[in-house]
Amino acid sequence: MMHKFLIEGENRLLGEVEISGSKNAALPILAATLLSAETHVLQNVPQLADIETMSSLLRYLGCIVTRENDTLLIDARAISHVEATYDIVRKMRASTLVLGPLVARFGRGRVSLPGGCAIGARPIDLHLKGLEALGATICLEHGYVDVVAPANGLVGNRIILDMPSVGATEHLMTTATLAKGTTVIENAAREPEIVELANVLIGMGAKVSGAGTSQITIEGVEHLGQMRTAIRPDRIESGTFIAAAAITGGDVLLKQVSLKDLESVIQHFGYAGCELQPQGEVSSSGLCDLRIRAPKKLRACDIKTAPFPGFATDMQAQWMACMTLASGTSHIEENIFENRFMHVSELMRMGAQIELHGNLAIVKGVERLSGAPVMATDLRASASLVLAALAAQGQTEILRIYHLDRGYVALEKKLNALGAKVLRQEV
Ligand code: EPU
Repeated sequence: MMHKFLIEGENRLLGEVEISGSKNAALPILAATLLSAETHVLQNVPQLADIETMSSLLRYLGCIVTRENDTLLIDARAISHVEATYDIVRKMRASTLVLGPLVARFGRGRVSLPGGCAIGARPIDLHLKGLEALGATICLEHGYVDVVAPANGLVGNRIILDMPSVGATEHLMTTATLAKGTTVIENAAREPEIVELANVLIGMGAKVSGAGTSQITIEGVEHLGQMRTAIRPDRIESGTFIAAAAITGGDVLLKQVSLKDLESVIQHFGYAGCELQPQGEVSSSGLCDLRIRAPKKLRACDIKTAPFPGFATDMQAQWMACMTLASGTSHIEENIFENRFMHVSELMRMGAQIELHGNLAIVKGVERLSGAPVMATDLRASASLVLAALAAQGQTEILRIYHLDRGYVALEKKLNALGAKVLRQEV
């Protein structure tokens, strides 16, 4: 069933909000459950369409997946298939992350080759080159990639990534846990999701060191044990609520977020004139409450997206929404994906003044945005339209919000609890 949002703008957001578990941390962790014949326990798993897609894929492969609220039990003892079909992979590119674990445990995996997606071509060449370096043979046929391990299993190797791809780092680190000998991943991505995955693998008995730096070392082991973990809070959802407070001149307390994961976002909203202050104790896992108080008008400030710890590409669209109403002109450079400016034309329909020059957007702050019918195109672009609508005069209608449901748990409920007026309707 298709839904749309109707948003009445110009309401200051005030109050407290709970942040859900991280989608992008949960997805590779879910794929890693395939590494061992155990029943795994994952807590704080967000209830999102993408997580449901990964769960369906695991079920298709033979896992028994049961959910009780935010806890997933995954019984990965009896695997019956080693293939992810087109039907599943076309829904979500992260499905390809099951390939390596299948090859590591069963000697073979086959997944439909993902196509491009709205934000760019997004090839998986680095994943495949890495698997080859571990000794696998790769065959591309009928739209599928078929990967077979040598008779004696995968063998550790030195892998130098051409770029610090998040997915390739996760995929190869996971796969190498069961390869013979030592694997070193150079130019590895340093995102917090990599560190979280490494800790989960270590908890299963893997020998991984260096996650969070650009060199990760994995000593292969024979078997891995049970996975038990609680997914950490979503840093992009956190950043999106910071942006929601910022664009409405609000005062919001984010409960239990990871400050370390948000440094660049916190710094930039600070430059833009917001006050961001940690509140209370920091928990043993590094979480604490964060209060954001925004001024009536934000100051324009430039960003360039970059791999972690730089400004996240997943926050670029939300930042741009904030800059459309700032005083002054800001330059926004997108350096990770080649086509991640689809929110620009929709924001302009709401009165934003933006010029595009390749991967650079020049945003001239305007006095006000006005509500309009707009179309969501991908997850974070959709979030930016919601933000713009919260601040715009009048009503905004956002179509195709299934994009939002892939990555934000109960977005309208959380926003409405802060004083926004967001209505979900069937179309
Ligand atoms: N790339 C290649 N070849 C590869 C892999 C990547 O050319 O084999 C390119 C991509 O096309 C892209 C760049 O490298 O231009 C970076 O891609 P990366 O592999 O780092 O991204 P990803 O693993 O596919 C994850 C998140 C994205 C997030 C990016 C960057 C998940 C499930 N997805 O994607 O999240 O934007 O890292 O931080 O973790 C989102 O949540 O909205 C989202 C798109």
